Amino acid sequence: METKVYQPAEDSGLLAKAVEARGHGRLLEVGTGSGWVTERAVRDADAVTEVVASDLSPHACRAARRRALEAGGSEENGDGDGDASGSDRARPAFDVVRANLVEPFADDAFDTVAFNPPYLPTEPDNEWDDWMERALSGGESGRKLVDPFLDTVGRVLAPGGIVILLVSSLTGYDAVIERAEDRGFDHEVVVEESYPFESLSVLALTQTSPDVQ
Ligand SMILES: C[S@@+](CC[C@H](N)C(=O)[O-])C[C@H]1O[C@@H](n2cnc3c(N)ncnc32)[C@H](O)[C@@H]1O
Repeated sequence: METKVYQPAEDSGLLAKAVEARGHGRLLEVGTGSGWVTERAVRDADAVTEVVASDLSPHACRAARRRALEAGGSEENGDGDGDASGSDRARPAFDVVRANLVEPFADDAFDTVAFNPPYLPTEPDNEWDDWMERALSGGESGRKLVDPFLDTVGRVLAPGGIVILLVSSLTGYDAVIERAEDRGFDHEVVVEESYPFESLSVLALTQTSPDVQ
């Protein structure tokens, strides 16, 4: 059983569906985990032109990089003069960057930013402090990662850009919407599903006031 990297589940499938429907231009998937959603975007999101995946976990970055290489092709590494000195080298299907949320990325760098955040409300006594816990736990409120993400994502979004964010009913849907509105985003629901213990919605957030950060 995988103990370090979050494996694709229902939430991943919903995020991928929403990215396919609404993603466009340069896409960043924050918290890519195994890279499965990003690979789906490369393959199925016709309006997406360039793709970068990021995660804070080094284990996730390695897994996503492996996936990117497996899904990629090869390119000739020759000197262009047509002789036999060139060798093939692997060309990843997407780039992977180790990053805390959107920290290292340039202003206006992406047209679409997608995130399936760690969101399970977790009592401090139940925190395990390992990489799988960081993939799952949203701290006591469930919004430990969602809040700073909403506070900072506007900076890396190009004009006309869109944020595609998975929200669970366990995270406090209304609190997420309120924070997004405070940060100058309008929202609409792209897909949603109900399960016995939670409902999942994927929101498309678009900026009403790009200057609000
Ligand atoms: C619920 S998993 C989602 C994985 C994958 N996107 C999917 O949908 O299958 C959340 C991911 O966010 C990553 N993560 C946690 N904290 C992060 C942070 N501060 N910055 C970037 N990624 C983070 C975790 O390592 C984990 O891979």
